[in-house]
Amino acid sequence: RGSEAAPSPEPRIQRVLLVGFMGSGKTSVGSALANRLAWAFRDFDEEISFRAGLPIKEIFHQRGEGYFRDLEKLVGEELLLEEQVVLGSGGGWPVAEGRMQNLPPRTLSVWLKVSPGEAVRRAGREGETRPLLAGPDPEKLASDLLEQRVSFYSLAHVSLDTEGAEPERLAEQIEELMKATGRA
Ligand code: S3P
Repeated sequence: RGSEAAPSPEPRIQRVLLVGFMGSGKTSVGSALANRLAWAFRDFDEEISFRAGLPIKEIFHQRGEGYFRDLEKLVGEELLLEEQVVLGSGGGWPVAEGRMQNLPPRTLSVWLKVSPGEAVRRAGREGETRPLLAGPDPEKLASDLLEQRVSFYSLAHVSLDTEGAEPERLAEQIEELMKATGRA
C-alpha cells in the first residue's frame, strides 16, 4: 500500500480514426495500435465489402463508385459511434465537406502520409485491389488524386510520415500522442 503508482487516468480519447491515401498503412498501423491498446480495429472497407457481399473492386465494377460512396458514408457514420476502437477509413472517406471537421467528440484523427510512388508500390504488392489506381500510369493517377485530397487529409489532428517507418513504431507514436492529448 502506498508503493504502487496511481492508476492511469481514464483516457479521454475513445477512438482513433486513421485517414490517408491508399497504401498509407491504415490497416497495418491500425491493427498494431488496436493490439497495443486492447481495443478493436475496424476497417471501413471490410465492413462495406461485408454489407455489399462483394469485394471492393467488384462493388466499383458492378455497382459504380456512387454506390460505393453512399455505403461508405453510412458505414462511416455507424463505425464512428463505436468506442474504444481504432478505425481505418478508406482513402476517399475524408473527401466530403465537413466530414473531418465534424468527428464525434473524443476522436483523435491521424493522417498517415505517403508519397504517390510509395503508395503505388505498396498497393501493387496487394494485387489489383484499388480500382482508382487501375490504368496505364498508376503513379500519375495517384499523384493527381493525392493532390486533390491533401486539403482534406490535412484537417486531421495530427500527421505522421510513414515512409521507412515500421507499423509497430507508428502505432507506438500514436499511443504517445493519445496520452499527450488525453491529458490536455
Ligand atoms: C479508395 C481507397 C480504398 C477503397 C476504395 C477507394 C479511395 O481504400 O476504399 O478503393 O478512394 O482512395 P484504402 O485507402 O484502404 O486502399
